[in-house]
Amino acid sequence: MDDFRGQTALVTGASSGIGLALAAGFAHRGADIVIAALPNEKLATAAAWLRARHPVTVHEIGIDLAFEEGPDKLAARVAELDLTIDVLVNNAGFGVHGNYHTLDMEQNHREVMLLCSAVERMTHLFLPGMLERGRGTLINLSSVQGFQAVPHMAVYGAAKAFVLSFTTALWAEYRASGVRILALCPAQTETDFFDDLGYQVATGGRMRTPEEVVATAFRGLRRGRPHVIDGWQYRLSANAPRFLPRGLVARITERVLHPSKMTRPARPPRPLLVDDAEAGANTSAA
Ligand SMILES: NC(=O)c1ccc[n+]([C@@H]2O[C@H](COP(=O)([O-])OP(=O)(O)OC[C@H]3O[C@@H](n4cnc5c(N)ncnc54)[C@H](OP(=O)(O)O)[C@@H]3O)[C@@H](O)[C@H]2O)c1
Repeated sequence: MDDFRGQTALVTGASSGIGLALAAGFAHRGADIVIAALPNEKLATAAAWLRARHPVTVHEIGIDLAFEEGPDKLAARVAELDLTIDVLVNNAGFGVHGNYHTLDMEQNHREVMLLCSAVERMTHLFLPGMLERGRGTLINLSSVQGFQAVPHMAVYGAAKAFVLSFTTALWAEYRASGVRILALCPAQTETDFFDDLGYQVATGGRMRTPEEVVATAFRGLRRGRPHVIDGWQYRLSANAPRFLPRGLVARITERVLHPSKMTRPARPPRPLLVDDAEAGANTSAA
């Protein structure tokens, strides 16, 4: 069940962090890899890193998935490369933190497009092929924050709740199809994510590592779970709010995530990639 030889895994947002670790996890299990992320140096470095460690074919596709056309362009590049996608991991994402009305309106929109719209579109582009073949794997990245409202990260929390609900529904619909579907829910994990966010909550302990998240993902797949939360302490804390009034949980969270407790400055909003070539065309493989 953990053998992906002869299969191809497409992982979005795999130029760093959890996506790169997941891509390495599938490569380690024999899959050829397509990594897709914003077209920048990080993507090429990540592809080279994978190639140096795993004797599989690694394709890289630079693409901005927060654009309406991003997922279709990515699917078109995959078709041009004549690849069949057996594993899809919708991982690309970022979050922003602050009082909702003070956040950049375009950045909020990009967050929704990337975390909700692109995930749904990518799923619709690649799931039918898996269903036809009676085999495949779909992992969508949610978060422990998908289990509750998240004041000061209102858009992010709502988007991750969307992913959790959407993926769980698909898991139930396609349980007998041969396609494994999983919502992966990490807690605070050591990645570049916090550069965008500009905020880090004291965990009272060490953060999770991307490798631990990957181990949790493969365990969830093996067990056929609809979702899996990384870390036993987060399994408890993500489920606890179910037994408390939603308003109370939101008020407590509002205090914990209050902007006055920011620990580092956020990276400024990224400029839009308006050039078509920049937004998603470059590909290379080895
Ligand atoms: N780290 C955590 O604590 C945590 C917890 C729960 C859930 N998650 C989720 O895990 C996923 C991966 O995050 P991470 O922690 O690994 O962060 P990360 O290291 O910052 O990785 C995010 C990836 O997404 C890419 N990306 C960002 N915007 C994109 C766009 N518009 N189009 C295509 N690719 C884009 C990034 O490329 P660039 O680096 O070039 O921008 C990067 O490859 C996200 O969905 C996140 O919400 C993270």
